[in-house]
Amino acid sequence: MSKKQFDVLVIGGGPGGYVAAIRAAQLGFKTACAESNPYADPKGEPRLGGTCLNVGCIPSKALLHTSHMFEEASHDFAEQGIKVGTPSIDVPTMIARKAKIVDQLTGGIKGLFKKNKVTMLSGHGSFVGQAGEGWEVKVGDEVVEAKQVIVATGSTARHLPGITVDNTLICDNIGALDIAAVPKRLGLIGSGVIGLEMGSVWRRLGSEVTILEAMDSFLAAADQDVAKEAQKVFAKQGLDVKLSVKVGKVTPAKNKKTVTVEYEDKDGAQKAVFDKLIVSVGRVPNTDGLNAEAVGLKITDRGFVDVNDHCQTNLPGVWAVGDVVRGPMLAHKAMEEGVMVAELMAGQAGHCNFDTVPWVIYTSPEIAWVGKTEQQLKADGVAYRAGKIPFMANGRALGMGAPTGFVKMLACAETDRILGVHIIGANASELISEAVVAMEFHGAAEDLARICHAHPTLSEAVHEAALAVDKRPLHF
Ligand code: FAD
Ligand code: NAI
Repeated sequence: MSKKQFDVLVIGGGPGGYVAAIRAAQLGFKTACAESNPYADPKGEPRLGGTCLNVGCIPSKALLHTSHMFEEASHDFAEQGIKVGTPSIDVPTMIARKAKIVDQLTGGIKGLFKKNKVTMLSGHGSFVGQAGEGWEVKVGDEVVEAKQVIVATGSTARHLPGITVDNTLICDNIGALDIAAVPKRLGLIGSGVIGLEMGSVWRRLGSEVTILEAMDSFLAAADQDVAKEAQKVFAKQGLDVKLSVKVGKVTPAKNKKTVTVEYEDKDGAQKAVFDKLIVSVGRVPNTDGLNAEAVGLKITDRGFVDVNDHCQTNLPGVWAVGDVVRGPMLAHKAMEEGVMVAELMAGQAGHCNFDTVPWVIYTSPEIAWVGKTEQQLKADGVAYRAGKIPFMANGRALGMGAPTGFVKMLACAETDRILGVHIIGANASELISEAVVAMEFHGAAEDLARICHAHPTLSEAVHEAALAVDKRPLHF
């Protein structure tokens, strides 16, 4: 039987892979996408959407939304004169709603594949060897040929030695999104993005949350002004973040109902008992099982597929995008790379500006930033001017009952070009887009200062921060 032949085969159907496949098909390539995850849909096929749609961005944001509503109903309604009694949370309903959203979106990608004539192949993809002008790849039980291959195999949670994740008592991101009842005492190892987002979900629903973090500083990657404000606000909310922690023995009870974590912090040896433990200490790229060695695909010391700025690997016609390559592990970065690769394959000027990839942490208040932090500019010896406006001075924020946080803009002292924007506050995730657009167009703070912003909106705080760069804010 002759082998199936494609112009482009994408291995992995997450945001990097499915977007690359759709764009490649739009550009006229005969395209297939192989996916092998265990999250079967009602037809028994793997679901598309990767980590993001199945066990990442989307389900976590659904739980963050429900828990935010719950917290508002529990604590904020009364101040506005809304009387609802004491709300209670039905966790199975919350989880079922989340699952429905996941179903809808993952099914939607299959619809998009059909619409764009992308062939979905169910099965694990691994390289076999070179074939003619392309590559042979085994997908499940069959071998297919493709002129070009895009590796988009993503990442999985990093686990720690001696801590067995069963996704029941001790969870990584997979189990953390399916907890069936509010744990009384929730422990998290790692105060990164997942630690803060999932810690927030369960704290809002009533858990006592303790986060054990190895580093001595909080949110080291964020602008330290934002990190300090966040640390203060989260502590007030009741998130107990312990820094400089060395986690030792982790022992589940015989009945698997509790787990004891021994650790050391600045006060010496400690012991804590939790009803649930989430391990959120970063993620590792998925390259095992790709049979990279057989074809000589270069893998870095840290396990990533080695690529240049255009996501080209060391092999002709083999590309790699998303979490499996260098750079931030973010869905939108993966999608940008997917589009870039498809367009480069078609001879177009595909491009990805890694300097304007925004970061968002969906806590309350939200945290979002793009570009350089103040500490990076100082380290690089770049002269800059800063404008900072608190949401306390923004009418819309007060009306929304969200006066916490600020917008900080950093601009080059010489040219006024915007170098970084850092926001902690309500809807920071949406507000950051204006900064991304401005920076993409090499905008100056003065450009934003001279743009009319609707009143009353939170975006006026971005406007005022731009004015504050030139020391002429109007409302602060
Ligand atoms: P993945 O989404 O991991 O997809 C890779 C796919 O490839 C998987 O489906 C896998 O089954 C498949 N695969 C792997 N190997 C093979 C093989 N050999 N053959 C066939 N298929 C294979 N990012 C954001 O930008 N915003 C967020 O709010 C956000 N929230 C997150 C919350 C959580 C809890 C987690 C864990 C992550 C979150 N992320 C978020 C990160 C985001 O999910 C990832 O950056 C994104 O999914 C990466 O996309 P990808 O396509 O590179 O890989
Ligand atoms: P992370 O890299 O954000 O944070 C991991 C934290 O664990 C760090 O603070 C690290 O110092 C700490 N740590 C590492 N080893 C430790 C140890 N042995 N003991 C105690 N602490 C330890 O990783 P996280 O939270 O697992 O998330 C993985 C990735 O998923 C993120 O980096 C991000 O790329 C993506 N993500 C993005 C989200 C978003 O965009 N809103 C939401 C959730 C995840």
